[in-house]
Amino acid sequence: MLDCPLASGLIREVTLARKAAIAASGTLLALLPGAASAASFWPVSPQSEQASSIVFLFWLVMAIAAVFLFSVLGALLFMIVRFRGRPGQPDPRQRYGSLRLEMWWTAIPVTLLVVVFGFMLRELNKEIAIAPDALEITVIGHQWWWEYRYPGDVVAANELHIPAGRQVRLNLQSADVVHNFWVPDLAGKEQTIPGTNNVWTFTAGKAGTYDGACSEYCGTQHGWMRLTVIADPPQAFEAWLAAQKQAPVTLSSHQDALRLYAGNACGGCHTIQGVSGGKAAPDLSHIGSRTTIGAGVLPNTPENMARWVQDPQAVKPGVLMPSFHLTDQQAREIAALLEDLK
Ligand code: CUA
Repeated sequence: MLDCPLASGLIREVTLARKAAIAASGTLLALLPGAASAASFWPVSPQSEQASSIVFLFWLVMAIAAVFLFSVLGALLFMIVRFRGRPGQPDPRQRYGSLRLEMWWTAIPVTLLVVVFGFMLRELNKEIAIAPDALEITVIGHQWWWEYRYPGDVVAANELHIPAGRQVRLNLQSADVVHNFWVPDLAGKEQTIPGTNNVWTFTAGKAGTYDGACSEYCGTQHGWMRLTVIADPPQAFEAWLAAQKQAPVTLSSHQDALRLYAGNACGGCHTIQGVSGGKAAPDLSHIGSRTTIGAGVLPNTPENMARWVQDPQAVKPGVLMPSFHLTDQQAREIAALLEDLK
């Protein structure tokens, strides 16, 4: 029997806080990057204005929550010790309701919500000035990969190169269902909706590699719809863009692989500049220069590439690329071709 009117209410509060903490830690674990990726989703190193706003609000709420967590736990511990039942003690006086307490524990949360809401409005109100030299890139969400279209007919997939220090303006679109473009250190989340163009503007303050993911459930392989943003120093970015415009030069040394590529109709879905022009699947013209395969599911190595082309369904079940029952030798030949497409 508890002999303090506060205690039972507090126990309920702590139980709820504990459940919330467990749920939150589960979410954080789910956000930890997979083996194919080295960067982190933990949102503490914002590199753009919007990400800084989000992280500020995140820490504000965390700080308020921490103050209450420790005060409630402290009060609970104190009461458990101070008011514990002793042998022979009669039942304590029972009290039902306390207007004063109830007013306090209504007024305090309401005040806190108003304060957090105020800060949120302040961050929402910050205007992002549109830079005249902003780089416009179209981002198209597909089940389950990302397509990027740059000016000058450059098409890339999954790894988004941008110039550090220069504003980028993303036109977010979808080829099939609703996805959500999310790179925590660079910006908040924005949906890609079929038939809609959502504009997302940010500037990566520092060169570096930033991990991101689709953050809206979009089908079986939603979990492997990762993306990486690579913010290059401006000159390196221009060099990358120029290299993307060049057709791959190593094709002639892969005649067998090109025959397999044609024989299995790979070009119906994929583009390799100078070879095929399929649009349904990732452009392969420079796939050898990417760090991962299948939107993050495997690190890009010749062995993994062979495994991927031989049986994509075993690596990423549900992926729209069928298995073509290639022999080991055939898979290695195609992998060698793809790895050479730098
Ligand atoms: Cu695309 Cu989830």
